[in-house]
Amino acid sequence: MPANILATNRISLFLIFLYLSLLLLRRQHQRKYNIFSFKSYIFALQNESARKYVLHRKRVEMKLGIRPILDAGRPKVYIETYGCQMNVNDSEVILSILQDEGYALTENIEEASIILANTCSIRDNAEQRIWGRIEQFRLQKRKRDGVIIGIMGCMAERLKDKLLEGKVVDLVAGPDSYRNLPEMIREIKAKQEPQMHVQLSKDETYAEISPVRLDKNGISAFISIMRGCNNCCSYCVVPYTRGPERSRDPFSIVREAEEVYANGYKEVNLLGQNVDKYFWKDLEDADHTVNFAQLLEMVAKVDPGMRVRFSTSYPSDISDEVIETMARYDNICKHIHLPVQSGSDHMLEKMRRKYNREWYLNRVDKIREVIPDCGITTDVIAGFCGETEQDHKDTLSLMEQVGYDSAFMFAYSNRPGTLASRKYEDDIPYEVKTARLNEIIALQNRMSLKSNERELGKIVEVLVEGPSKRNPEQLCGRASNNKMCVFPNGGHKVGDYVMVKVESCTSATLICSLV
Ligand code: 5AD
Ligand code: SF4
Repeated sequence: MPANILATNRISLFLIFLYLSLLLLRRQHQRKYNIFSFKSYIFALQNESARKYVLHRKRVEMKLGIRPILDAGRPKVYIETYGCQMNVNDSEVILSILQDEGYALTENIEEASIILANTCSIRDNAEQRIWGRIEQFRLQKRKRDGVIIGIMGCMAERLKDKLLEGKVVDLVAGPDSYRNLPEMIREIKAKQEPQMHVQLSKDETYAEISPVRLDKNGISAFISIMRGCNNCCSYCVVPYTRGPERSRDPFSIVREAEEVYANGYKEVNLLGQNVDKYFWKDLEDADHTVNFAQLLEMVAKVDPGMRVRFSTSYPSDISDEVIETMARYDNICKHIHLPVQSGSDHMLEKMRRKYNREWYLNRVDKIREVIPDCGITTDVIAGFCGETEQDHKDTLSLMEQVGYDSAFMFAYSNRPGTLASRKYEDDIPYEVKTARLNEIIALQNRMSLKSNERELGKIVEVLVEGPSKRNPEQLCGRASNNKMCVFPNGGHKVGDYVMVKVESCTSATLICSLV
């Protein structure tokens, strides 16, 4: 054979081999990333984050199902939720798991075969209320055979088998044990014996479980982005009941936000005990990380028509990057909940908060410099161990200096097992605690009124939540800075955005006209 033909044949063979290898490579990638159109294959290869996203979609198979199933034929579960927004979201996860197991939600305890309380341990009075409710749940057990009573969440985690003493309840499940519920229920039925699971986890985030939404209005959804807390503030029981900090993968968070938006929700609330510590690292690629500011941006980009809120921020962890990201996106609401707890450096140190008064005030200055009209709210504790009159005055003066828009205010409650409970005496008499708390509340009421008066004459965008509670002829909804607005019903629907003008106010509400 002439040399030139031999060479051409070799080149052809080489090209065929190259073509077949490329086909094989593409096929392998398609399998790996679960993409079958050539266009999306090229897109995924070109775009690193899209590639990760596609890969993740394959891994995270979320179960769809936004609203509760109301099926008369199914056995019924009744759920009562206490405490924070995290608990509301956890109840939504619990319902999702139980719906998969064949149960349907009921709001009528009389027809429930499973009665659950998702509980809170943060203060003693929260637990006392739940003990009272357990007594009432037990009446249902006397009325019907086979009723199961379960205590879920923080109180389950804190009290563990104490809740099973005297067979007061049948089921005890801590915040990381919800996946075990179906099996526990089956065991209770089969063996007629109580069941407990309270093991805390380093990595449980319920990432792929799509919560069944329990909110009434269908426009504002909670999305947990992380669980647990590593902060160990000396008064707080949360690190013991909810375990160590762990962040949920960002792709399942974005996907959940997309899912709720596609189902008509207009606002997502990203939840965590300390959202500023959100941090996700790709196990397959250590260089690929996502912090809270980046997550906020990813969620804000789902759609400009979807509002994004978040809580709770921690004063020494909230970064400039977070504040600047908020400023860049119109749909990230201009509100930061920044618990201060006390205005006294001495108390802050004893509380094991990781900042002092000066640091806190600097953070507030930074927020106001970047977002001048940002709503700032806080939590305050009155009467912590050893608090002097001067410490209390420092709290009042800090509150006045910041001029909070609103605040959650509490009397210190000693929680067994916490550092404060072990190390310090709960020495502020009840009357003194109450008097200080009342003084703090009175000051905040005056400041809330002042803060609302600063809004007079402004035109703000409001997301319609529904009829006003006081006057059902009027509508209500929140402005971006979280202030509640009431305005005339101009035929708007729940979930519409409406421009209103602030005409007058009380300390709790802005009274507005339509513009
Ligand atoms: N006593 C009173 N208030 C408490 N908080 C947390 N632990 C306690 C306690 N032992 C408050 C803090 C926190 C909020 C969620 O509850 O202000 O920010
Ligand atoms: Fe409790 Fe402090 Fe963690 Fe908040 S940051 S949950 S107050 S330990």
